[in-house]
Amino acid sequence: MLRSLALTIIWICFTVLAETRPSFEDDFQEFGRHTNQSLLWAPYRSNCYFGIRPRFVNENPLMMGLMWFDASEPQGLNQLRHFVDIGDKLEKYSYERYDPRLGGKEVIIDRENNLNLTIHFAKSRNGENWGARISGEPLDPTKTKVPSLVMYFSQNGPAGNLGRDSTTRQDKNGIYLEGSAPELGAYDIRITDNSGEYYSGGPASEVNGDSTKPSHISFTVPDDQVWKARDIFQTMLTESIQQIVASGKKINPMSLPSALMLRNTNNFPPGSFHFVQKTFDFKEPFEFDIIFNKKGSKQRISSRNEFSTLISWTMSELEVRFNNKFSIKDLNLKQFAEETLANLMGGIGYFYGTQMVDRTTEFDEEQFEKIELKAAKEEGPLQLFSSVPSRAFFPRGFYWDEGFHLLQMMEYDFDLALEILQSWFALIEDDSGWVARELILGSEARSKVPEEFQVQNPNIANPPTLLLCFSEMLARALEYQESINKEPEDHSFTASNTDELLKRPELLTLFAKKVYPKLLKHYEWWTNSQRGFIEEYLEVLHNDVHPEEAFRWVGRTFTHCLPSGLDDYPRAQPPDVAELHLDALAWAGVMTRSMKQISKVLDMPEEFERFSQTEKKIIDNLDYIHWSEEDHCYYDVTIDDDKDELRQFVRHEGYVSLMPFALKLVPKKSDKLKWFLNSMGDNEKLFSDYGILSLSRKDEVFETGEVYWRGPVWINMNYLLLDSLVFYFQQGGDEQDLETVQKAQKLYSDLRTNLIANMYRVWGEDGYVYENYNHDTGKGTGVQHFTGWSSLIVNILGILPERL
Ligand SMILES: *[C@@H]1O[C@H](CO)[C@@H](O)[C@H](O)[C@H]1NC(C)=O
Ligand SMILES: *[C@@H]1O[C@H](CO)[C@@H](O)[C@H](O)[C@H]1NC(C)=O
Repeated sequence: MLRSLALTIIWICFTVLAETRPSFEDDFQEFGRHTNQSLLWAPYRSNCYFGIRPRFVNENPLMMGLMWFDASEPQGLNQLRHFVDIGDKLEKYSYERYDPRLGGKEVIIDRENNLNLTIHFAKSRNGENWGARISGEPLDPTKTKVPSLVMYFSQNGPAGNLGRDSTTRQDKNGIYLEGSAPELGAYDIRITDNSGEYYSGGPASEVNGDSTKPSHISFTVPDDQVWKARDIFQTMLTESIQQIVASGKKINPMSLPSALMLRNTNNFPPGSFHFVQKTFDFKEPFEFDIIFNKKGSKQRISSRNEFSTLISWTMSELEVRFNNKFSIKDLNLKQFAEETLANLMGGIGYFYGTQMVDRTTEFDEEQFEKIELKAAKEEGPLQLFSSVPSRAFFPRGFYWDEGFHLLQMMEYDFDLALEILQSWFALIEDDSGWVARELILGSEARSKVPEEFQVQNPNIANPPTLLLCFSEMLARALEYQESINKEPEDHSFTASNTDELLKRPELLTLFAKKVYPKLLKHYEWWTNSQRGFIEEYLEVLHNDVHPEEAFRWVGRTFTHCLPSGLDDYPRAQPPDVAELHLDALAWAGVMTRSMKQISKVLDMPEEFERFSQTEKKIIDNLDYIHWSEEDHCYYDVTIDDDKDELRQFVRHEGYVSLMPFALKLVPKKSDKLKWFLNSMGDNEKLFSDYGILSLSRKDEVFETGEVYWRGPVWINMNYLLLDSLVFYFQQGGDEQDLETVQKAQKLYSDLRTNLIANMYRVWGEDGYVYENYNHDTGKGTGVQHFTGWSSLIVNILGILPERL
């Protein structure tokens, strides 16, 4: 209270004494501390069904993970769940509501194991302490399955220590561990039962194990092996079973669950890695709590009831925050949106570790065979705070996806989105300006990636979506600044203020100032490394063409252009070193525009002028290089030596040809807008009942090969297209004729309605959001539970207007 009062007074003083504008550095620090505190704990191991670790604690990381299996059959152990895996075929693993600052609720429906699992996660208000409540019941009560839940906790590191011997207790109230680490201080963890019965179906004594009570053993596992907890558990249990069998004992089916309780058969001395296993009888639902408290904390979660209260508060606070930000009247759609957003947020992870980089391989300009990066070296460690495209399939940082994730997240929690952005910006290398396209940090992250895709190379770029997002944020902050009368507000950093940086442009400016040098480097690296060879075209192009502003994606092959993010979208055939990519130029435009905005915010008139000039040149060059007057369409271009007309258009209509529109680079008064509308609105080309297609139905390679970006509907691009329709036509598009405006209005409503209806339908049918959607049937295709950029549907539902 005092603190917030003090801040208010300071704020008022600042407003009054406008001419003596002070440094906001102190507030910025305070804001940073608040952010750190509220984001310390969360299920940041988003690759696990449920796995907790703290953010920024790298030396002595405390790791927690949950696993489960069916102990009624010997084969049950093969279905031990741990990492999210599409092969597990879970009916559902989904956050219904979630926010890393608060907590939430995850529901897991595992039909094979007959288990309906609910996990509540909640934190004390100051973010210091947390608890997880695990509740389970059978999906089908007539089936005899025996759920066995296994948790592991580990605190190693040079100075970490979790419950060796004397600091560990097990009594009728549960299991109690104590630990400490320099970054976390001293803490304790309690695991206590609320309801349920342990399995007592068989005569335990015969098999050495005893399922009527929890099993708890500890030993030592090196830090870099902790993520292999599943393998460790399986190996130890298999050994234990073999030992029972070797001793001549017969394991009858009723006592199997006891035999499947973990024992310390190797007599490992106690260590700071702990397994706790509980095997339940399905006679009644079970429930237990895992509660972490920092020693001496004023907000200790000290009882089951207190934790229940915290959970209720968390759940209702999540609801309030969602309602504050998104207005969705239809309750079914709202539930869909809330859950989809929760899963995007549930993908937020904290990653720490080394990455594989090949800095020596250069790209032979004449060579478009498969790219092999063989000179990989391990570098780092690095740290990243980021969401992931899919917890199951892509549990790591993706540069191209992340900008889209943040476009969604910033609507809910502006400050959190900026915190993530900052983490990515911090990874821009000071000397080269490079940041890897995929951040696969540490062996846990690498275990999910085939070796050939693990290696990153500094010649390879990606669409700079992070700058698209940052530019959107700055524009938003400037807008907000103009919209308010500078009324002093209460600027206490409470957990419920999540738009601090939006409301206090001074802080955002300070942030922009800090990152500017890195962004400039990044800009230079991107534009220099992707600059195209334009010389050969000069004689045939428009006299005024700007030779510097032409780009191509380095690292394309015959079949793929992975750097563009649109992998198999058709490009020039055969590939040529002198081809120029329309989308690369458009993305250079976005980057330039962002730099222009940042220099405006930072009050740097010379830089502002320079970036404005470059932006203008890029916009000119879109027309001078890529516009086909004959087709009324923008295309990639390539060199055709055999023809008189040296420049050849690479005639594919689809996401690439729409890019200047999607990225708002076409001037508002341009007569080309109507051609975009024609292309998008045409049923025989790009329009469908499920969204705008990635490639025209009339294209010769439509639906060929992998059918990845050659037909299917992608939500990130559809979001950009809708948002551009708003940008160009919301105010009636004064610069356009009536017919065009009406066409745009109709297209907007139809497209928005179609996207919502289809994604909602698919979600209703099988409970998932997908990587993309089939253009003929609307069915979900590609990766299942892809709540990365597909969650932009939440903005489409709750932020974009219903009609123009
Ligand atoms: C927040 O945590 C990071 C990582 O430990 C640290 O570098 C930063 O200084 C912290 N911020 C503040 C304001 O304490
Ligand atoms: C799972 O359990 C919860 C809590 O008892 C219940 O509300 C839900 O309907 C169950 N789900 C299924 C699919 O049985």
